[in-house]
Amino acid sequence: EKGGYPHFMLKEIFEQPDCIHDCMRGRINVEGTNVVLSAVIDYKEKLLKANRFIIVACGTSWHAALIGKHLIESFCRIPVEVEYASEFRYRDPVISEDDVVIAISQSGETADTLAAVELAKSKGAFIYGICNAIGSSIPRATHTGSYIHVGPEIGVASTKAFTGQVTVLTMLALTLAKEKNSISQEEFLNVVHELNQIPEKMKKILENNDKIAQLSKIFTYAHNFIYLGRGYSYPVALEGALKLKEISYIHAEGYPAAEMKHGPIALIDAEMPVVVVATQNGMYEKLISNIQEIKARKGKVIAIVTEGDEVVKNIADYCIELPETIECLDPLVATVPLQLLAYHIAVCKGMDVDQPRNLAKSVTVE
Ligand code: M6R
Repeated sequence: EKGGYPHFMLKEIFEQPDCIHDCMRGRINVEGTNVVLSAVIDYKEKLLKANRFIIVACGTSWHAALIGKHLIESFCRIPVEVEYASEFRYRDPVISEDDVVIAISQSGETADTLAAVELAKSKGAFIYGICNAIGSSIPRATHTGSYIHVGPEIGVASTKAFTGQVTVLTMLALTLAKEKNSISQEEFLNVVHELNQIPEKMKKILENNDKIAQLSKIFTYAHNFIYLGRGYSYPVALEGALKLKEISYIHAEGYPAAEMKHGPIALIDAEMPVVVVATQNGMYEKLISNIQEIKARKGKVIAIVTEGDEVVKNIADYCIELPETIECLDPLVATVPLQLLAYHIAVCKGMDVDQPRNLAKSVTVE
């Protein structure tokens, strides 16, 4: 049932090219020139007249929500708030009939997310679900939604569900932006074209598995890790840190790279590994200065870079290369090596990666 892999987590990491393909099937046309998420088209009036979107989720799904905010705000110019479902449900939040609440959940059974949906629904908001488990409680409680169609996820650490959620959020933002005319035809075509290439690019990253396994051996000693990224890659840093702490029990924190100087830099010494997502998109130059600051304090830098990068390669201790893509799709490629890094570090430490201590696959209690 693990398809020849030693763990479900590794199987699910390796399934991602196929999963993303399945997720896009029937939604992106074969020519790669159009995206249609049917729920968006069916409810476009409701969605387009929304004052704002509020995305509620927990854990990894909350990280996908942060990427969704960035995508929807930049393509659709609709304000988006991202909330931990557990905080939202108890805060007596301001919600009205003009709000659209997007609930993201792999299992569709997370108690806090379900309660957030029920609360928002009782205040008259329109609820859109992004889930994986077909027929689970959250999709049943929503007005509409889109399944991510990545197949059952068994490993407690979420991997393919995250990339599936980000893929659906990208298609949602594109479909809505086209309806709203808030994206140029040229940009629309470019993003769809690049999105279509993602499964092939993920395959290329997975070819680095052995190299990442070797690299991981160096870091089994670590007690702490810092993950840094900016823009679209900031949630990737959070997700990389969560994966590591869940399965290897190494304390890890993700930060937006520019926040480092406001505190976390005090932690950096020769014992501190820092993973920096420094692709050649967005804030590349600024990330180079962050890496220099870390090196000046003797921290060990593992950089995630764009193929052919020479600048970061000369200053970082270790580099993992990614095929080039556009900035908004960086999370779909940059997350994969971080999943592998966490997996191999945990395996080197002899941990039970599929069923880490104290964690459950669906958190159906508060
Ligand atoms: O099923 P959900 O997406 O609602 O689950 C949310 C979180 O419990 C989940 O993402 C959790 O953080 C994972 N263990 C992350 O790997």
